[in-house]
Amino acid sequence: MPNARLDIAGLPNYNQILGGAAKLTLKKHQALRKLRKLMTDNLFTNKKLLFDRWAPSYDWLFPSVFYRAIHKRLLEYVDLPKPANVLDIGCGTGRLLERLATQFPDLRGTGLDFSANMLRLARQSNHHHPRLIYIEGKAESLPFADGQFDAVFSTISFLHYLEPKQVLSEIARVLSPGGRFYLVDINITSKKEAEPQLLALTPRGIRLYSPNQRQLLGSSSGLLCLNHHYLLGPVLLTIFAKPPI
Ligand SMILES: C[S@@+](CC[C@H](N)C(=O)[O-])C[C@H]1O[C@@H](n2cnc3c(N)ncnc32)[C@H](O)[C@@H]1O
Repeated sequence: MPNARLDIAGLPNYNQILGGAAKLTLKKHQALRKLRKLMTDNLFTNKKLLFDRWAPSYDWLFPSVFYRAIHKRLLEYVDLPKPANVLDIGCGTGRLLERLATQFPDLRGTGLDFSANMLRLARQSNHHHPRLIYIEGKAESLPFADGQFDAVFSTISFLHYLEPKQVLSEIARVLSPGGRFYLVDINITSKKEAEPQLLALTPRGIRLYSPNQRQLLGSSSGLLCLNHHYLLGPVLLTIFAKPPI
């Protein structure tokens, strides 16, 4: 006949059970964090691939004609100290920096992009080397020292960023006190003012920010919104300043 007495000698005690449960929860959290990082890395890779594929035809396709017209209009609002050190985030094939270097002969400029193919083209058509240089990197973690730049530019690139707040706090960090951030992106008025308009045009979509949303995002990184100007159709320039010390 089987022994009906409960033999507890080999069973874990209460504290061991709690400890085991805590370890399991921690493992679950770690696994979830890893999964989230993997998904973000994957989305970055997808976006990077998209731009790497677009790069060879970028300067010949219609959007590029449109972007160049935007750069021209943007220059009407650019105010820089002499000599200026500027950064262009998501610089693509470097057209904006070329234009800036021509208009401001003392300017030094750095173009940053995560697409190696875009950067190859930017370097090939760099008429202002060594005043202009191009560096591969992510807008979310800028490989530059604090307060290094007098101005930061972003033209039709911010809408691709998966972590806009992180990018803005990086921009605020690398700007010198009193420096300017020129944000140029498309704005389509959203019914839900609290959230950016999400369009599923690329992996993980693009995000369009209203003037109010831009102002709120900027202030969350300590950037003051100075003004907004429509450059071409729905393309809106927002000028931010890092407060002087
Ligand atoms: C539509 S293109 C605009 C290029 C350029 N600013 C212009 O006005 O022609 C967007 C650029 O942003 C870059 N980009 C997108 N997300 C990025 C990120 N997270 N970090 C760095 N570059 C990024 C892309 O590789 C691409 O070159």
